[in-house]
Amino acid sequence: MQWNIPISKHLQHGELNLEDKALVDRAIADLPNAYAPYSNFRVSAAIRLDNGSILSGCNQENSSFPVGICAERVVLSAVHASHPGSKVLSMAIVCNDGREGPLEPTAPCGMCRQALSDQVSRQSTGMRLILSTINGPTWVLDEASDLLPFRFDFKQ
Ligand code: THU
Repeated sequence: MQWNIPISKHLQHGELNLEDKALVDRAIADLPNAYAPYSNFRVSAAIRLDNGSILSGCNQENSSFPVGICAERVVLSAVHASHPGSKVLSMAIVCNDGREGPLEPTAPCGMCRQALSDQVSRQSTGMRLILSTINGPTWVLDEASDLLPFRFDFKQ
């Protein structure tokens, strides 16, 4: 199937710029913080804030499945808990399904796309997305909110 996706760059790990590479490396380093005993699909999201801080969050599943939360929304909540008012300049998302062989990056789910888009509206600054894996290519999107065109916006 052909997707009309706003990927601006397909890169190998060694081709990333230093800032993006540092964010991907932090997300990979923190993958063990994922709690994914039900899906075995680990996701880690690391963000760079406008104050220079880097935070990360991983998916946290729950025995009552719908209670689980994706890595992207874990780390966005951490921003508002410990760095309120800060802007999220970029987010690296990495995944690992525990199997051998190269894996494609994962794109944020629909609920996370809404959360990312709302964050972009709140902060009035765009957010770069770097989608990667432990052993595969990296896709760079210049603007996270491009993933959710014609989105719901309570202010409209
Ligand atoms: N997951 C994320 O953490 N982020 C996404 O954008 C998609 C899915 C998690 C949720 C669940 O724990 C596992 O991946 C499998 O769906």
